[in-house]
Amino acid sequence: MIAIRLHPDKQSAAQAIAREIADLIAIRSESGKPTVLGLATGSTPLPLYAELIRLRREAGISFRSVITFNLDEYEGLGPTHPQSYRRFMEENLFRHLDIPAANIHIPDGLTKNAAQNCADYEEAIRDAGGIDLQILGIGRTGHIGFNEPPSSADSRTRWVRLDEVTRRDNSAFFGDMSLVPHGALTMGVATILQARRIELIAFGEAKAEIVRRAIKEAPSAGCPATWLQRHPRCTFHLDAGAAQAL
Ligand code: F6R
Repeated sequence: MIAIRLHPDKQSAAQAIAREIADLIAIRSESGKPTVLGLATGSTPLPLYAELIRLRREAGISFRSVITFNLDEYEGLGPTHPQSYRRFMEENLFRHLDIPAANIHIPDGLTKNAAQNCADYEEAIRDAGGIDLQILGIGRTGHIGFNEPPSSADSRTRWVRLDEVTRRDNSAFFGDMSLVPHGALTMGVATILQARRIELIAFGEAKAEIVRRAIKEAPSAGCPATWLQRHPRCTFHLDAGAAQAL
């Protein structure tokens, strides 16, 4: 069941989700529990990350009890590569918050043993007690994380080949399509569906058609975001552009 929340603009969506995260941290830390967040990269969550940084700076909210797991990382890109998701997260979120470095998890794009690295990632999520709240964007192929079509509902963290549509959409960041990696490591659909709460964010007309499909089409591997319909607590946060085909 997907709940839809319409926001007047990106900033309002960011504020609503940041408030939800702050409330969750407050409730869980009252009973001495960590808060496990699943995080996304890309342009969509940037206003949310800016808002979390503002809450840290201006409201003094602490993120010391937070444990994070990012959805994905490009194959072959290490932490110092300007386009790696590790670097993206450092610059746009982590370096501005007080999350202990040991609590931050991102798949290792430089691993020589992807299968082992992915199995270890699944285990680390389990050991942390599972993800309390997962942030998602959505790709125009219907991907969540980098689960490109076809991705089954029982898929787990693994190596995937990126769709050419995704490579083209992300090429602006790399300057040239030939520099965009062909593969990535990503949490699986089943890994994502195990999060206790999911907040998907989509902004702009370019996402309207895939948002419509994700909500209206029968769940199938051909549009991986449709699997979210099976989640008991998933909200799509949309602006007017992303909601226009509903
Ligand atoms: C990023 C990720 C992707 C993006 C999606 C949308 O970690 O997993 O699924 O959320 O490609 O990207 P943007 O936000 O750049 O439109």
